[in-house]
Amino acid sequence: MRMYDIIKKKRDGLALTEQEIHFFIDGYVKGEIPDYQASAFLMAVYYKGMNLDETRALTFAVRDSGVTLDFSNIDGIRVDKHSTGGVGDKTSLVVAPIVASLGVKVAKMSGRGLGHTGGTIDKLEAIPGFQTDLSEEEFIKIVNDLGVCIVGQSHELAPADKKLYALRDVTATVDCLPLIVSSIMGKKLAADDDCIVLDVKTGSGAFCKTVEESARLASIMVDIGKSAGKKMLALITDMDRPLGANIGNSLEVIEAINTLNGNGPEDFTEVCLILATNMIYLAGKGTMEECEAMVKRSIADGSALETLAKMVKAQHGDERVIYNPELFEKAKYSREVKADRSGYIVRVDTEGYGIASLLLGAGRNTKEEDIDYSAGITLVKKTGDKVEKGDVIAVMYTNDENRFQSAVDRFMKSTEIGAEKPEERPLVFERVE
Ligand code: URA
Repeated sequence: MRMYDIIKKKRDGLALTEQEIHFFIDGYVKGEIPDYQASAFLMAVYYKGMNLDETRALTFAVRDSGVTLDFSNIDGIRVDKHSTGGVGDKTSLVVAPIVASLGVKVAKMSGRGLGHTGGTIDKLEAIPGFQTDLSEEEFIKIVNDLGVCIVGQSHELAPADKKLYALRDVTATVDCLPLIVSSIMGKKLAADDDCIVLDVKTGSGAFCKTVEESARLASIMVDIGKSAGKKMLALITDMDRPLGANIGNSLEVIEAINTLNGNGPEDFTEVCLILATNMIYLAGKGTMEECEAMVKRSIADGSALETLAKMVKAQHGDERVIYNPELFEKAKYSREVKADRSGYIVRVDTEGYGIASLLLGAGRNTKEEDIDYSAGITLVKKTGDKVEKGDVIAVMYTNDENRFQSAVDRFMKSTEIGAEKPEERPLVFERVE
């Protein structure tokens, strides 16, 4: 078999066999297939798509590209949550400690930023000292002791995804359904969780822009997960506006802390409550009403915040920032962004907001680039808000003043101000079981 022929076959829109897909994944992981051929393959898949059999074969090939984990020495039910990626999406930082504080284990492996979206691992690394690379023994011990631990994907787990994820990030091949399914489900199936809740984002800041497309993504992932013996559930949630007010790594950790203190933005708080409720429901903790009440109580009595602080400490981070978020290092420069006319914010291109945050330094342009943890954007006005010309609609932060202009331009191009108040979109569109 030759990689050249596989690329050509996909380029010409033909379906690949299981053997051809395995040949690509094995060869790429072993370093026998170079990045330039893998990039061409990804672009061919991007344009020509994959049928269900190919998508399943790619998912299983990604799962089988490394070790599969054994969490049998973690006591109790294990539940995971995975988002398809969004802007300002810091839900894992809130829902994981809530769920753990309620006695359900969260042994979580998370990713880094991808395309215009942020990643949980980059956010956690904004906490001074926080380690996301722990040994399996330490990881399991922390989960058993505290109920939760969040680490980066280990080198042995689904290594094909680790390599492909970084390559897709810099070759404009992220927003492609079979590549998203195989990336998410490949690594979820290699881990050893009992239940998985998928947060499938939809809208201008998501990789799937329409509810129909997101519903298709959700049902394929739920089916593949169930066929592998997992309890699965997916929620399709809105990403036509950023979630919460803060975009950028330390800014998002601060917002997550505020939310666990009961002072989070309404939209973000609601999505976190719904996700956490569904996670403990799937784990069999009670009816939906009982689960919702437990989740609310864990915030009100401080147990979820305390769990986060303990997890940060156990993962070698400075837990003082959890109780004193003002200790986070501030960006050297800030700039207000003002409305250029009066009216309502009728629509935002959420992906554009994500890119504006990357332009400030909050994400990577190449696989190797460092992140400016304090860079990002605080939204003062969001979709549906009334603004007068000259009102501050956002504040931008960075440690490199030269980055402001392109970020402001991108942000303004992504903000539409009009005369009519827009209709409100729901936060959750569908629940796929
Ligand atoms: N999250 C992932 O892990 N992979 C994707 O492709 C998209 C979101």
